[in-house]
Amino acid sequence: MTAPVNPTQTEAWTRLGQLHDDLQVDLRGWFESDRQRAEKFTFTAADLHVDLSKNILTEDVLKNLLDLAAETNVLTRRDQMFNGEHINNTEDRAVLHTALRRPKEDKLAVDGQEVVQDVHRVLERVYDFARRVRNGEWVGITGKRIETVVNIGIGGSDLGPVMVYEALKPYVQEGLECRFVSNIDPTDVAQKTADLDPETTLFIVASKTFTTLETLTNARLARTWLLEALEAAGALDGKESKEAVAKHFIAVSTALEKVAEFGIDPANAFGFWDWVGGRYSVDSAIGTSLAIALGPENFEEFLGGFHALDQHFLTAAPEENVPLLMGLLNVWYVNFVKAASHAVLPYAQQLHRFPAYLQQLTMESNGKSVRWDGSSIDYSTGEIFWGEPGTNGQHAFYQLIHQGTQLIPADFIAFAKPAYPLNDGDKSAHELFLANFFAQPKALAFGKTEEEVRAEGTREEIVTARVFAGNKPSTSIMAPALTPRVMGELIALYEHITFVQGAVWGVNSFDQWGVELGKQLALQIYPAVAGDDEALAAQDDSTAGLIRYYRENR
Ligand code: F6P
Repeated sequence: MTAPVNPTQTEAWTRLGQLHDDLQVDLRGWFESDRQRAEKFTFTAADLHVDLSKNILTEDVLKNLLDLAAETNVLTRRDQMFNGEHINNTEDRAVLHTALRRPKEDKLAVDGQEVVQDVHRVLERVYDFARRVRNGEWVGITGKRIETVVNIGIGGSDLGPVMVYEALKPYVQEGLECRFVSNIDPTDVAQKTADLDPETTLFIVASKTFTTLETLTNARLARTWLLEALEAAGALDGKESKEAVAKHFIAVSTALEKVAEFGIDPANAFGFWDWVGGRYSVDSAIGTSLAIALGPENFEEFLGGFHALDQHFLTAAPEENVPLLMGLLNVWYVNFVKAASHAVLPYAQQLHRFPAYLQQLTMESNGKSVRWDGSSIDYSTGEIFWGEPGTNGQHAFYQLIHQGTQLIPADFIAFAKPAYPLNDGDKSAHELFLANFFAQPKALAFGKTEEEVRAEGTREEIVTARVFAGNKPSTSIMAPALTPRVMGELIALYEHITFVQGAVWGVNSFDQWGVELGKQLALQIYPAVAGDDEALAAQDDSTAGLIRYYRENR
């Protein structure tokens, strides 16, 4: 593996700093003086139409960003990732989520193992199982077909499946429903099982490591619920609880021996590999709930979308390589324009969980302060990703994006064809909706000047309050429709954007040591919470005070 480059020591970084200092940002003027600007900065990646022209971007900036990528060896690292080198060095692992979506006939040997064949062997098992649930061949302990699939998982074992399920609901088979339990707050499992019929419910325990406290706790709570509810309904009828668990619980994990210890039949477990990071795993067996709900054919399409974007990232020239350009733009915003956060604003209600999904993908990947050789970093990494679907966000936080003092680059996402083509009288509701998608980036970029505000007859005292400064950057992403394929493309786009940023910053985007300390402390603190005074006395004063408050008020 090549050593990381300190990006601040590159010539391109120095030039970008200079360019930023000299730049007179003027999106109105830039568009007026260059009628080719929109076309020049609009690109295609698979089915995605990506307009970067409303960004704080000039040809000079772009050229130097591409030089920065070259000086920091981004494309070399990309190739190392696709070829299965152990670029996740702190865990000594390959990073091969891209192998999860390679066609069957591809070959890729990693650490002496043909991984593409392994992937397709598991996929076939997942598809076979999904078909049996969908056609009613797989039944619960009392012979009834499955109506509800409950995925129990957290982080990467939850966020991807729930996000895609919500996004692709129009593709879900009638009579099937998925629910997702993640939080160790018992409210989650209690509420999600409250109205369920145990005889028609299938639980999927999804955990890469099969050690995650939340998931194992919830899986045990669900198992207790299942057995008690079956018993209460007289459905067990002398049958062994083991048999009920075998019919109503399956698992997805890289740790199949732990699955067996939990009491789930290994025949009903689907594996994946340590070279799939949790937040990069929705296209592995972690997506089993999706394969059931959407069907194997749609899941194949979903994988095809990922692969199409992978191919674009691998083969498009740097100047037209959308994930490369978007990743570099994000570096520009974080390190030169000094943006601390990035909004993702889907104009598609179906994508309402997409920002939450991206939070783990981007922030667990690039929230790092040492480079992959352990050397410390003295420049910003990992901006905060956040967002909500439009138009809801417009009535909540857009005020700050339009007129606040912080600069927040935003990605707007929309689809030409609606999932539900409804009309309001003679107007298409989708077109009213899309008009907002087109209006917001325009307002952000071009604003409204004092003269324009005055010309509307505004009282002088409130003119400045009604001015929009403009020059607020955004990217607009469109696709024909939110299909399984396009969903895969969108996820892969953001995976690779995240990769590019991490590669420029020299960080290992594939480990997550920062989540460990809190987990350890929770286990240490639990006895104090439960009533152990000695454990309470061992806490710092603030934590002890809070636990005491809890114990007095429980
Ligand atoms: O705590 C963070 C994390 O390790 C994530 O990276 C991961 O997606 C999540 O926990 C769940 O892990 P697992 O799939 O092993 O249960």
